[in-house]
Amino acid sequence: MAARIIAGNWKMNGLAAALPEVARIADAAHDVTGVETVIAPPVTLLPRVARHDGITPAAQDCHAADAGAHTGDLSAPMLAEAGARTEILGHSERRANHAERDVQVAGKVRAAWGAGLRAILCIGETEAQYRGGRTVEVLARQLAASLPEGATPENTIVAYEPVWAIGTGITLREDEIERVHRTLRDRLAARFAQGAEVSLLYGGSVSAENAASIFALRNVDGALVGGASLTAGKFVPIMNALAEKGAYA
Ligand code: PGA
Repeated sequence: MAARIIAGNWKMNGLAAALPEVARIADAAHDVTGVETVIAPPVTLLPRVARHDGITPAAQDCHAADAGAHTGDLSAPMLAEAGARTEILGHSERRANHAERDVQVAGKVRAAWGAGLRAILCIGETEAQYRGGRTVEVLARQLAASLPEGATPENTIVAYEPVWAIGTGITLREDEIERVHRTLRDRLAARFAQGAEVSLLYGGSVSAENAASIFALRNVDGALVGGASLTAGKFVPIMNALAEKGAYA
């Protein structure tokens, strides 16, 4: 069975005043059994987030090179040294705002692996692609081109986030989530020896209100959570909802 994981993506949010929320989330994580809790704060807070046991500190991006003339960028070894154990890569906001293409994302995944970090690879279709019935085609292309050879359950997590569901309050229909996750599971299993054990997260407006019904779906091993990860009050109920998910084949 794939590991159950809740990952909080703080995006460009969080000054030091937000650190008490991390402490509350870490405290709660000790009591949530069978679930790994990941927090990806802005890099400025990463060393302080990494001081908490009970949560896995993560970065939100990295450069594909280990070092060099890349003003403003951070490499995977630097992020590992700052405390990261995992990295969110290929998030749709990076793909849209920084024109990241699959081939570049694949380079970043390789860099993360090279630094001993696990990648949370994000994939997702736009609303136009969804309405055009192209979801599976788009995801298959992203998965094939942005996930390099060598993915294992230890070094990779895949997060499916419909772009149009991020930050909008929209959730994909449950049967559609289940169908997409089934397809992703099958493709990972066909391509990688242990592909069936790679954790599959759903993302996009996951909240305390909708988490339990999303986690009840087959092949949903957890969630990548943006807005609702910024406070323990909203995030801990999502962690608890995953802990309560029953076993499935
Ligand atoms: P959201 O963001 O939960 O605020 O929709 C999810 C994400 O972008 O990972």
